[in-house]
Amino acid sequence: MQFRSFHNSDPPRLHQLWHACQLGRNAAEGFSCDIFELFACSQPYFDREGLILAFDGERAVGYVHASFAVNDTQTDLDRRQGILSALMVHPDYRRRGIGRELVARAEQYLLKAGAVSVEAGGGLNRNGFYCGIYGGLEPSGFCSSAAAWKEFFSACGYGPGSETYILRRDLLQSRDPVIAKLLRHRRNLNLVITDRPGNESWWWFVRYGQLDSLRFELRTREKEDLVASGQIIGMDIFIPKWGVRSVGIREIYVPESQRRHGFAQALVLEICKRLREESVQLVEAHVAADNKAAVDLFTTARFELHGRLLTFRKSLQRADA
Ligand SMILES: CC(C)(COP(=O)(O)OP(=O)(O)OC[C@H]1O[C@@H](n2cnc3c(N)ncnc32)[C@H](O)[C@@H]1OP(=O)(O)O)[C@@H](O)C(=O)NCCC(=O)NCCS
Repeated sequence: MQFRSFHNSDPPRLHQLWHACQLGRNAAEGFSCDIFELFACSQPYFDREGLILAFDGERAVGYVHASFAVNDTQTDLDRRQGILSALMVHPDYRRRGIGRELVARAEQYLLKAGAVSVEAGGGLNRNGFYCGIYGGLEPSGFCSSAAAWKEFFSACGYGPGSETYILRRDLLQSRDPVIAKLLRHRRNLNLVITDRPGNESWWWFVRYGQLDSLRFELRTREKEDLVASGQIIGMDIFIPKWGVRSVGIREIYVPESQRRHGFAQALVLEICKRLREESVQLVEAHVAADNKAAVDLFTTARFELHGRLLTFRKSLQRADA
């Protein structure tokens, strides 16, 4: 078995591996190699040394993609926090130690670049690659049902990291809940929809800039005060896999002074209504498993738990430390 870092001629190999590795229901499939290249190799921070392939002779049989989390201001990467953005081994080559070797090589790359820790799977809002083709709305972790992640990463010395719930609503199957205060809101509020991104960060543009997005705001009719905002992201690359049009809802936000009035719920249901009118069938949100307020918000709006995305963490120590 041989290992080497990325060459410019590799995307067709990686694209083929992606489709052969049985990545589970949260990985898009049936898209072109150009799309793969756009979402896996075209980011301004792509580093060929961080993407490492395993070969059996001429045949690529696995790869790992190491990168970094974003800094607190979302203006650059934080090279102290390593991430494993992707990892896969061809089914014919599993249980031969290739995954373990790929992870060890990715850790060496991260250590050399200055990382002190690594989070396999990235985490909510932290993975800078594969937005649009893995995870659904975003690659917030590795899909729990796709592999024996817990066993594999504990064999590699990792402990548990974060858990993100994929919450979904089928707009054709479920009716909107009737909530009295929401009827009142409808009389007093205006929905404003814009296709201009709001005041988005560099991190937003490098991950979502290539996808369709809209911003929604609820404002009071009289003074036009903002009471809730959110955005939707098109998930069209998943159509060949799922067979339906899907959209993700993210960044639902209510200003502190406007909380506990049901404005977030009013906004989510209003977005669902508009999407149903546009023949979108599935709506998805990613929520940290321990964020009770957000989980409650979406479950009241008839979203159901559809899957879990997991991460695993390890501290990295220099051999000379
Ligand atoms: C997870 C994955 C990468 C493991 O690759 P691998 O080459 O088979 O892993 P290794 O052979 O290095 O396994 C190392 C250890 O992990 C554990 N392990 C790996 N697979 C396991 C399984 N299916 N069940 C239980 N333990 C497992 C074992 O302890 C193993 O050591 P052992 O074989 O000596 O017992 C592989 O299963 C895979 O590609 N799955 C799909 C990937 C995916 O969905 N990626 C998301 C897209 S980015």
